[in-house]
Amino acid sequence: MKKPIRVAVTGAAGNIGYALVFRLASGAVFGPDQPVAINLIEVPQVVEKLKGVVLELDDCAFPLVKDVVATADPAEGFKDCDWCLLVGSKPRGPGMERADLLKDNGRIFVGQAKAIAANASPDVRILVVGNPCNTNCLIAMNNAPSIPKDHWFAMTRLDENRAASMLAKKAGVDVTEVSNVAIWGNHSPTMYTDFYHATIGGKSVVEAIGDEAWLQGEFQSLVGKRGAAVIAARGASSAASAANAALETVKSLVTATPAGKWHSVCVCSDGSYGVPAGLICSFPITSDGKGGHKIVQGLPVSEFSKAAIAKTVAELLAEKETVKDMLA
Ligand code: NAD
Ligand code: LMR
Repeated sequence: MKKPIRVAVTGAAGNIGYALVFRLASGAVFGPDQPVAINLIEVPQVVEKLKGVVLELDDCAFPLVKDVVATADPAEGFKDCDWCLLVGSKPRGPGMERADLLKDNGRIFVGQAKAIAANASPDVRILVVGNPCNTNCLIAMNNAPSIPKDHWFAMTRLDENRAASMLAKKAGVDVTEVSNVAIWGNHSPTMYTDFYHATIGGKSVVEAIGDEAWLQGEFQSLVGKRGAAVIAARGASSAASAANAALETVKSLVTATPAGKWHSVCVCSDGSYGVPAGLICSFPITSDGKGGHKIVQGLPVSEFSKAAIAKTVAELLAEKETVKDMLA
């Protein structure tokens, strides 16, 4: 039997956690012949509720699940983990921006980063989902200097998926026809949804949609404000689609990206495309299937794209300034 991959999920009794854990256990991320062990982490007040998740995991009798740990102790929770999915944190409510959560949520990531560095597998990878995810990831990465900077990720796959779905609807085609949308910058309304390299049925999106003004205007705002639209409609922040995007992010990072394709993830900038090195910024990424990834290089950047990327990067720099006391 293959050695199980051990995955920690924080906020495991929350809305995203509940939508995520069972698919992870079913083999949806690491494949149908890869055993998994799952460490569920919650705050002490919620550990009782977590027991319900453990009971239900047992009741699924998933053949791939070899161990389940449920705990409020981060040292125990991150012990020997190969992947840490950091979901646990407060979601925003109506009328708030994700950045409004910085002060409340940022501190969580200081302690968790130290616990991961001290207890997880030396080759651990971390995906931050809790908002504001870019800056929470920046805080965590800076508080765990022993973990290589290219092992840290934050999630913009949900934004990429939203954009692909919207483009497919607008063009009246199946979503599988849409390819190579790229999200740049911050997971916030300033994010830039880059359609210039995207295709629909092999044709450029600009040609297929035939309305560049819509792509530069309304489309950007629809993608950037989709999280708020979900909150307004369901009275709670996106959960099933966020869990799906988290699982797809990990799957895309552990699988070799098909030639000519990419996926969007926030990673530590190496200075590519003028983004200051060390910021956690969304880029188009390719994965080598062996744990490595690269920012796609050499994409032509139009004047419109340049200005849009500069705007979202300026917001990341401002968030970094706000949390400078947490950057160790
Ligand atoms: P939720 O309130 O339903 O669940 C959050 C859970 O986290 C709760 O059970 C809470 O007890 C737990 N928690 C809080 N602090 C913790 C800690 N220190 N350690 C362990 N667990 C802790 O919220 P949700 O809907 O699951 O959303 C979780 C986060 O994900 C929010 O910050 C939300 O804004 C964010 N989110 C991000 C994206 C994205 O695209 N990046 C998408 C959707 C939601
Ligand atoms: C989303 O994009 O749905 C999440 O980041 C939740 C939110 O606050 O918008």
